[in-house]
Amino acid sequence: MNSSSFNLQNKRVLVTGGAGFIGSHTALELQNAGCKVTIIDNLTNSKTTVLDRINELSETTPVFIKTDIRDTEKVTRVMKENDIEDVIHFAGLKAVGESTQIPDEYYDVNFNGTVSLLNAMKEAAVKSLIFSSSATVYGENANPPLTETLAIDVQGISHAYGRSKAMIELMLEDYTRANKDLSVTCLRYFNPVGAHPSGKMGEDPKGLPNNLMPFVSQVAVGKREKLTVFGNDYNTPDGTCLRDYLHVCDLAEGHLAALDYRIKKGKPGLEVFNFGTGKPSSVLEVIKAFEKASGKNIPYDFGDRRPGDVPSTYADPVLAKEKLGWETKYTLDEMCKHSWNWQNDNPDGYPDS
Ligand code: NAD
Ligand code: UFG
Repeated sequence: MNSSSFNLQNKRVLVTGGAGFIGSHTALELQNAGCKVTIIDNLTNSKTTVLDRINELSETTPVFIKTDIRDTEKVTRVMKENDIEDVIHFAGLKAVGESTQIPDEYYDVNFNGTVSLLNAMKEAAVKSLIFSSSATVYGENANPPLTETLAIDVQGISHAYGRSKAMIELMLEDYTRANKDLSVTCLRYFNPVGAHPSGKMGEDPKGLPNNLMPFVSQVAVGKREKLTVFGNDYNTPDGTCLRDYLHVCDLAEGHLAALDYRIKKGKPGLEVFNFGTGKPSSVLEVIKAFEKASGKNIPYDFGDRRPGDVPSTYADPVLAKEKLGWETKYTLDEMCKHSWNWQNDNPDGYPDS
């Protein structure tokens, strides 16, 4: 399966947060599949220079409009002017730790932002939404492998980021019940990592990275001295946490599969899919794989457990395979290799515009 396996020629798709990590890789694949892509982004966590890279890798440039998703009027206008048929909604704030400090911002951008987007869709008569959800909605007490039949556990989530995602999913359930012509797909990502194999696109975190892979990449390239592994006394094979890492290009392709499925199905309603590999890796396994991929030594020490971390989480990915015909293909070694290509070629991320 690749972008040309789908019948998406000339589909007019709005990508919110399309200048960000996952949105930009998805926008690229949509362009390569012949879609007409419009990106909206307020650039709080991205730069417009990513558009040059999309252009370079797809030979076409998406329409880009700088706007906040909470500006309902402007977003409605963008949808109408570009005759949008489908929305893929990535825009939002995603730093778990930060969300415990400024929950108001997280609820405003993530939750109110989604309400605003839904209002704009209603105004512009757009009836299809694919939403970036997270495995975090299963809460911190669920036992892996996690299947979509498990309930959303808002009470079992310890941070505003995760709760905002869970609350959005619950809201979308209510919206699709009330609006019989609305089609919504919630995609619950596990741990997206990696970068475009060309090394031209990747994750470009501002400041200190919160997540493991960008931190490891920055240590490998010499920007940071060492990694602190958060806890080595978990009840796991090597004592460090297990996560389900998936390649961002697999993830991007999954969005095309979801869009293609939505169009073929032609039936409104809400559907939910896990997006993961089903194969967990430990923190130490990631470090080892990255050392192999980069040829660099990654110094690390062990620190305290990070609050809110669960020992082990990974997907049951069967439903996405059965219904969307999509499954991941990249290995952990390839994820590390491509992250390294990106980090090594772009040690300071995307250039300023
Ligand atoms: P990202 O920060 O790289 O991309 C998000 C983009 O949204 C950024 O370009 C940012 O500028 C933009 N944005 C933020 N607030 C906005 C607003 N109010 N209006 C318009 N644009 C706004 O993040 P990402 O890793 O690409 O994540 C994309 C989505 O996937 C997010 O919703 C995130 O919660 C979700 N998700 C990410 C992960 C992960 O580990 N990366 C895991 C699960 C779910
Ligand atoms: N880790 C370290 N050192 C670091 C960074 C991370 O040891 O410097 C460890 C973490 O403790 C965890 C593993 O690496 O064991 C993965 O951590 P990440 O921060 O990369 O990923 P998380 O699993 O914590 O985060 C994911 C998603 C979020 C989601 C969150 C909670 O990225 O969207 O799970 O469910 F909200």
